[in-house]
Amino acid sequence: MYGGGWTAWERLGSAIHAITNFLTNSILFTPPIGGVKKLSMKNNQVYSCSHCGAQFQKWTGRCLECGQWGTIDKNPTTISAKENNAPESAPAKISTLAEIKSGNVSRTKTDIAELDRVLGGGLVPGSLILLGGEPGIGKSTLALQLASFLPNSLYLSGEESAEQIKLRADRLCIKAEKMKIGNESNIETIISTIKKERPALTVVDSVQTVYSNESEGEAGNLAQVRACTVKLMELAKSERLTIVIIGQVTKEGTVAGPKTLEHLVDTVLYLEGDRFHQFRILRAAKNRFGSTDEVGVFSMEENGLQEVKNPSAAFLGERAENAPGNVVACLMEGTRPILCELQALVSKTSFGYPVRKASGFDLNRLHMLVAVLERRAGLSLSQYDIHLNVVGGLSADEPAADLAAALAIASAYKDKPLGADMAAFGEIGLSGEIRPVSFTEKRLKECEQLGLKRALTNLGKKNSGLKMKAIQIMDIKNIQDIVKHT
Ligand code: TYD
Ligand code: MG
Repeated sequence: MYGGGWTAWERLGSAIHAITNFLTNSILFTPPIGGVKKLSMKNNQVYSCSHCGAQFQKWTGRCLECGQWGTIDKNPTTISAKENNAPESAPAKISTLAEIKSGNVSRTKTDIAELDRVLGGGLVPGSLILLGGEPGIGKSTLALQLASFLPNSLYLSGEESAEQIKLRADRLCIKAEKMKIGNESNIETIISTIKKERPALTVVDSVQTVYSNESEGEAGNLAQVRACTVKLMELAKSERLTIVIIGQVTKEGTVAGPKTLEHLVDTVLYLEGDRFHQFRILRAAKNRFGSTDEVGVFSMEENGLQEVKNPSAAFLGERAENAPGNVVACLMEGTRPILCELQALVSKTSFGYPVRKASGFDLNRLHMLVAVLERRAGLSLSQYDIHLNVVGGLSADEPAADLAAALAIASAYKDKPLGADMAAFGEIGLSGEIRPVSFTEKRLKECEQLGLKRALTNLGKKNSGLKMKAIQIMDIKNIQDIVKHT
């Protein structure tokens, strides 16, 4: 068998050797080169992934950053010696603070008050705004509505055809006949269109579908998304035009998602909510021209996103009167108090291990509240399944929701309603103490305005003795006191 062919054992040995070699050389010992950092190496060669832009010293079949197969460029990019030893540049022009004239930021109102509130008073000329959110949440709808309110606006989509946009505009009853629509995804063409049309507002839908001829890889990869955003930013600044770019966020967090663009743009807005529920919250994650405290509340209707002028009334709108396990909480969204309803269901566990489930509420926090209720308030919950839900697809992330959640569980456990005219807010500590929260007076005023008659909270030293006209305040310090009387 010598020289004529390999035995099965030899073949197996050779295959194992080849696999070990491959793993050793290319996967196990090939460190990814920190994100998209450009670096200089001994051999001046870099292999990059055309999907996510990650760079490696060696070629691999699968990208170790994004997990895509066959996307690592086999032809290594060579870093030229010139790039490594760039000549010294001229110093930048600097001025003292006194020399710089301060000017007021001029803003254009958008006709959507909730959006203006989040933007800090309106659109600023020469700014680039990123509107992010999960697919199907309503980004394109909001952007089209916004574009329709402004004279001379341009809507460019790489996702939908002009006919599809027209259909949406008809559904939204948009009358802006002069609004310009285009289906384009090449950034160079988009830029020359914007330069020619000079619209007061341009919408680019979405940043993941546009690509540049000057950048490598497919549309939507990190390098493309960044290159296109930088080009739009330069255009917005140099021509003093307002540009809105839409970015998709997935639940898992995309590699080239809006998160990676936050530092490149002036304003980042996120449209949040549950796409199966009606309410949407618009939140500013970054704003170079205003605060990030404000939120805008919208409701997705048949004819697009409608502003919710009185969110508390909307969230409490359809609630069941006097049901056990239902408690109203007063939470702050930015500087605005919003009333929402928390519901708990406590039922005998069928299996050995009790279930704890939460929707719109942090599960760890729920576990903590259950432990506090058991240990400090004497409720024996170990044999019960507990489900907690925040009505309307809202998220009750604030610690002030603790008291309402604990009371909802206690009320469901005892099967006793607490009354539909009562609100509760306060943070609960591990020893069962209720801690005062910020904006107590503002929250109480909101409860009063919505016609509630009783409010449970710890007023704290700052507000001790506070009285309201139409609402009775029950100042409580401990969860034991209140659970005993429920
Ligand atoms: P869309 O704006 O396309 O979402 P995104 O751009 O964030 O992916 O809208 C998504 C959903 O909104 C769609 O499933 C249908 C719904 N919708 C309405 O309920 N009413 C409307 O008037 C419109 C235009 C959309
Ligand atoms: Mg869309």
